[in-house]
Amino acid sequence: MIDQKLAEDLKKRAKEGDTGVLRGAELRSLFDQIKTLPAEQRGAFGQEVNALRQKLEQFLAATQDKQEQLPPIDITAPFDVNTPRDQRPNLLPSEQGSQHPLMTELSTVLDIFYRMGFTAVESREIDDEYHMFGSLNFPEGHPARDDYDTFVTVQKDKKGQPLIAPAHTSTMQNRVLKQLKPNLAKGEPIAAVIPGRVFRNEDLDARHEHTFYQLEGLYVDKGVNAGHLIATLKTFLQEYYGKALEVKTQPFYFPFTEPSFEFALSCPFCDKKGCSICSQSGWIELLGCGMIHPNVLHEAGIDTNEYTGFAWGGGIDRLVMMKYGVEDVRHFHSARLDFLRQFA
Ligand code: DAH
Repeated sequence: MIDQKLAEDLKKRAKEGDTGVLRGAELRSLFDQIKTLPAEQRGAFGQEVNALRQKLEQFLAATQDKQEQLPPIDITAPFDVNTPRDQRPNLLPSEQGSQHPLMTELSTVLDIFYRMGFTAVESREIDDEYHMFGSLNFPEGHPARDDYDTFVTVQKDKKGQPLIAPAHTSTMQNRVLKQLKPNLAKGEPIAAVIPGRVFRNEDLDARHEHTFYQLEGLYVDKGVNAGHLIATLKTFLQEYYGKALEVKTQPFYFPFTEPSFEFALSCPFCDKKGCSICSQSGWIELLGCGMIHPNVLHEAGIDTNEYTGFAWGGGIDRLVMMKYGVEDVRHFHSARLDFLRQFA
């Protein structure tokens, strides 16, 4: 028989979470005793000691489960514990953090384009004058460059030009066209979407941020026309908003497309009835698009007698604002937990 007092003592320690009981001298000495006993007592005693060890293990496992069940401690917004409960901040569930709503929505957007046969290439947050302007058919000194006023670095590139925080994801067009050009030789289209963070010298208000996200799109093949462009964007938008929408285009100017359009959709928030999101007009001007200018294709080494293509670029933040009725673009970067919690 095991000494009952010793057994109870070990069980008590195990219940308190003392993991030392399993490796400790007391349990070991019980196991050692087995060998010293007369043969006919060994079996029963050995079973008793093993049963005790199992009990200790069970008690210890239970204390560990209990520890795991403790409520998570929120470290995102420490507050004074003396604050009355109703005045304390509402906290995010923080045991694993949560994804930012823009990134969640971006995955949804990309998934739709993957299903449409597009591939995704990430944009970059620093670039040079050639990719931002030169390769996109902006002549040097052309006033259209002023529309893309952004931040530049003190550091200069090889040509003595400052590096640029790109004002649009179009900065990737030349690279992606070149990278995917081999598709054309194989009889496949160039079909790419390019998400990225872009920067502008803006006066900030509910609709304008100095830093936001854009999604660029490129499609090049034989016989591509503006009808394909409109159908692609309309299909995407209907899938994203989960409803039938109307779309319309009007002429616009971009140096890198010809013809160029401004693309609008019927307000998915109010279904054209007029609301604060669409400034009571029923329509939202969402993005810029057009048929890729032959000079841009040519610059990437694509034969413009054989191939045509379309491109578009627009803000992801705006797309998401309209989906959820977010009234101020600045909420996204405000680190306001009450805003973020709605999407957690
Ligand atoms: N880069 C333009 C902007 O940020 C948007 C744009 C317009 C992108 C037409 C395109 C395009 O690819 O074809 O204002």
